[in-house]
Amino acid sequence: MAILVLGGAGYIGSHTVDRMINQGYDVVVVDNLLTGHRQAVHNKARFYQGDCRDRDFMREVFKVEPIEGVVHFAASSLVGESVENPLKYFNNNVVGMEALLEVMEEFDVKHIVFSSTAATYGEPEVSPISEDTPTNPKNPYGESKLMMEKMMKWCDEAYGMRYVALRYFNVAGAKSDASIGEDHDPETHLVPIILQVALGQRDYLTIFGEDYDTPDGTCIRDYVQVEDLADAHILALEYLKAGNASEVFNLGSNNGYSVKEMLDAARQVTNKEIPAVMGPRRAGDPSTLVASSEKAKNLLGWKPEYTDIQAIIKTAWNWHVQHPEGYQDK
Ligand code: UFG
Repeated sequence: MAILVLGGAGYIGSHTVDRMINQGYDVVVVDNLLTGHRQAVHNKARFYQGDCRDRDFMREVFKVEPIEGVVHFAASSLVGESVENPLKYFNNNVVGMEALLEVMEEFDVKHIVFSSTAATYGEPEVSPISEDTPTNPKNPYGESKLMMEKMMKWCDEAYGMRYVALRYFNVAGAKSDASIGEDHDPETHLVPIILQVALGQRDYLTIFGEDYDTPDGTCIRDYVQVEDLADAHILALEYLKAGNASEVFNLGSNNGYSVKEMLDAARQVTNKEIPAVMGPRRAGDPSTLVASSEKAKNLLGWKPEYTDIQAIIKTAWNWHVQHPEGYQDK
């Protein structure tokens, strides 16, 4: 039996496929390659290029492959873009989920692990954020992911389709041997941008706001290493296979780092100056997002290996040094 990974050519998807294959899973990848990279997909995964909104294409994949479960990463995921173009997010993310669930139901596939986000919480007052914290998304991206979670919930009630929604906080780093890593175009995320400055590909980092209500005035985030994050998906598949009920889990490190602390940590790791300038706040950025991941540790048995921020940044740095232009498929 095989696991279908939708979006398996993307940043988190490709690391999850890699970990799954190394643990002996039979893996089928579907990706439309709009943002993913063919080179990022493990050569032992069977690859189909296509879009999960295309029901006929999806039916063909489900017909020829012995799929017993799905891991769903395929989505648009830029907060700023979602505010400017909400319908893109409702189409790609929500309509994509509807088509996927329909085909899963047709083929009697009952397990799905879903890539959700801290953006479903919006800007809660509490820290750390637990799964009981009310959801209140502040942008169409977070709203679309919450809608997708709710679609799975109602399909569980109606068809007994069980799901695990993994709400990621900030993901960073690369595979420890630097063979796969993060390559977005355009790049908007803090860690790769800092490292591109360290490599001389950008002149400086712009820090988006230093007037937040935090000790140094810059935003605080909770960074989790991508291979640790990938492992949580495998544990979630096993959790569903063992007959457990549908659940939502936060995935973070329980530690918050400010933008300035991340910059200092990257200076240590790279031994480079990394110039930075202060800029205005970026619209829609919450001041502090730190996860409580106790539930994932207790129920899934998740044990993140990386607890040190410099060690996380080091894995990203190794990838950037060895692949300064990212994947060579552009
Ligand atoms: N930042 C800068 N300068 C930059 C880029 C980022 O100061 O050039 C700051 C941001 O303002 C933020 C922090 O660095 O405070 C982290 O920003 P990222 O863009 O790396 O990540 P986000 O926290 O905005 O977003 C991430 C995921 C989203 C997800 C969100 C959930 O990328 O997909 O977490 O909160 F929705």
